[in-house]
Amino acid sequence: MPTLTISEQVEGALETFQHAPQRCAHSLLDWDCSTYHGLWQLLRLSGVQPSIDRDAEHINACLVPALIDRPGARVLITGCADYGLLALLLAQDEERGLNLNIEILDTCDTPLAANRWYAAQCGATIITHQVKLFDFAAAEQYDLVITHSFISQFSLTERPHLMAHWYQLLKPGGHLITTVRAYADGIDIARPRLEAKNALDKAHAVLRGLAAQGITAPVSVEEFEALLVHFFQERPTREVTTSAHLDALLADAGFRVAQQLSKAAKKPGQDSLIGAPEQSRGADIVTLRAVKDAVHR
Ligand SMILES: C[S@@+](CC[C@H](N)C(=O)[O-])C[C@H]1O[C@@H](n2cnc3c(N)ncnc32)[C@H](O)[C@@H]1O
Repeated sequence: MPTLTISEQVEGALETFQHAPQRCAHSLLDWDCSTYHGLWQLLRLSGVQPSIDRDAEHINACLVPALIDRPGARVLITGCADYGLLALLLAQDEERGLNLNIEILDTCDTPLAANRWYAAQCGATIITHQVKLFDFAAAEQYDLVITHSFISQFSLTERPHLMAHWYQLLKPGGHLITTVRAYADGIDIARPRLEAKNALDKAHAVLRGLAAQGITAPVSVEEFEALLVHFFQERPTREVTTSAHLDALLADAGFRVAQQLSKAAKKPGQDSLIGAPEQSRGADIVTLRAVKDAVHR
């Protein structure tokens, strides 16, 4: 499997950016995702937005026990914004000769197209499904369901349903691997939108990050800055998750947590919920592997 050069990654990011308005117009999300999906690959390249690369070590540590001794495993990625998880899976596949059957699901074709693009670069075959997770009925159950930053896409009341759906998609003995930002407390606190000043600062950081790598804005700098500010300010707010809440949700759905790896999201003070009563709330990035035991509940 080839490791993509920066210029190949930029080529993919620009293809995504260019086609996002048309592709996202057919998204099944109830909000306009074209800025989010269109910019996402460029944000990753800028180094400003945390991406799957940050969590690769922990995800790989969970992938090994989930996939070992399962040649030809059926794998489903739920929600994909980028091709980061696919890249990790294909790397494991090549290293260990796993012969994986990978399917990817998302409500929008923009990230699915980015994954098809990446698979084509690697000479790999994948199947993509444009569907809402709760509407997805699998032809056959999976050995592994894997996600990254997906739980936060669902409201607190939807999360038990999300866990139940993942559980039902897995074969008995199958694994769920997920990475989630977990706060010490406050599951009812939605992450507020960034204030204008902070959004502009972040937009400038993205422009600097791209420039440092010789990547120029795909539209005029003013237009690009406005899109970035829109991205940082207008993303829908989400209720945050705590580790305790996550553990309870998984247990209630019938999962057994077999592996849990955490690291601090950022240094205290950097990770602030702007507008929240406390300016700094510690958060961990938790990657866990949960098993659907081969016992009927
Ligand atoms: C998986 S997450 C983000 C992953 C990204 N790696 C990150 O670090 O933030 C977001 C993706 O989930 C998709 N999504 C949101 N709600 C969904 C749903 N109900 N069913 C399927 N996909 C959904 C969005 O279109 C988006 O591409």
